[in-house]
Amino acid sequence: MADSLPEGIELTALDEAFRRDPYKILKRLREVAPVYGDDQLTRVICTRHDDVKNLLRDKDFFTDPRKANPGTFHREFLARGDDEPTMLMMDEPDHRRLRSLVTKPFTPAAVESWRPRIRSVIQRILGEIKTSEFDLIEHYAGPIPAVVIAEMLGIDPQMHAQFKHWSSLAVKVSFNPFASEKELQQGQEAVASLDTFFLAEIESRRKSPGGDLISDMIRAEEAGEKLTAEEIVGQCNLLLIAGNVTTSDLIGNSIKALLDNPLQLAKLRQSPELINNTVEEVLRFDSPVTNSGRIANRDFELDGCPIIKGQSLMTSLAAANRDPAVYPDPDKFDIEREDTHHQSFGGGRHLCLGAHLARLEAQEAILALLEKYPNLAHSDKGYEYAAVPTFRGLSYFWVSS
Ligand code: HEM
Repeated sequence: MADSLPEGIELTALDEAFRRDPYKILKRLREVAPVYGDDQLTRVICTRHDDVKNLLRDKDFFTDPRKANPGTFHREFLARGDDEPTMLMMDEPDHRRLRSLVTKPFTPAAVESWRPRIRSVIQRILGEIKTSEFDLIEHYAGPIPAVVIAEMLGIDPQMHAQFKHWSSLAVKVSFNPFASEKELQQGQEAVASLDTFFLAEIESRRKSPGGDLISDMIRAEEAGEKLTAEEIVGQCNLLLIAGNVTTSDLIGNSIKALLDNPLQLAKLRQSPELINNTVEEVLRFDSPVTNSGRIANRDFELDGCPIIKGQSLMTSLAAANRDPAVYPDPDKFDIEREDTHHQSFGGGRHLCLGAHLARLEAQEAILALLEKYPNLAHSDKGYEYAAVPTFRGLSYFWVSS
């Protein structure tokens, strides 16, 4: 039976069937082989909610790909040669040090203080939409997070479009084992351009600091530790890569789920106070990040399957979020669901740093759009999911007002 299960590329958004409906394929995997050896990409895929939850929170597991066994998914596709990994792929104690130095601007209270500025960014972007039919991704969901993070970093507004472009190119290759030579080259060039740009920004902030995140990082001092210029550049890149496409996808996936489910949309229009629960339900129902991972630090057994030290473990967030053992009627999108807890921001030490920011942007973006367009609907021009492994979002999504 397990022989006929999909593997490798068939379990990524590069495959058309998976892109169209990953949940159907992941359901089968969870039912037939919840701990599944994907031999093509040399990784073990875990699809049960409780396994995913526990693996992500195991303090002893690694995320530094250099610690994975040779030939495994982590070692082959996530390591960047001898380069230092980003925080996401860093282990203790380096991870703790770096995270503690950048965590302040992302606490719920700090993010909340940005709400008025985020609202005004959203209104500005909304005001630029002049046609009755438009691509929601290109004209709305795409620009919002890029402009917000650029404003938080104190970047000149004239650079915002360039930013979005660079970060999209970098994301396209960062978790993609099948990236073409051309995509790899474009991704590397984009990262190099961002590095040069940020180094210049740091220099200028050292001379005249402001109230932005780059100045905060220069000032950050925790237990006598400081961030080096290279670490600040790495952190800026990570914020762009981790925060842009994901948040755009959350906004796009939210509007799609609502338009696909008119009763839920009507409920939200009638009771906008359901917005927070709506965003949590979208995160559960159609997570912008489909998987995360860990590296086993020891030999052990998971649901009767042997896992060896150094093995690449892929935690399927998308599968965990639809596990019927935890969520009644998991394929139903229900903005009044009582328990919307989900695995979409990962967990444990690497729990998404930008979770509060992403939530706030999505809440504000959805409400502002619905308020401006009381008759928002799917357009005949349709939509398409992007062929980018690890991420789930729309590459275009035409709507009419
Ligand atoms: C809906 C939007 C987002 C989703 C679904 C998402 C999801 C995730 C996931 C799954 C992880 C890995 C967690 C783990 O393995 O345990 C992560 C880590 C991270 N995310 Fe997000 N993210 C989003 C938005 C953002 C934003 C807006 C930012 C910042 C501006 C951000 C910054 C980060 C950082 C820095 C990490 C690494 C944290 C660490 O290693 O300690 N993310 N995110």
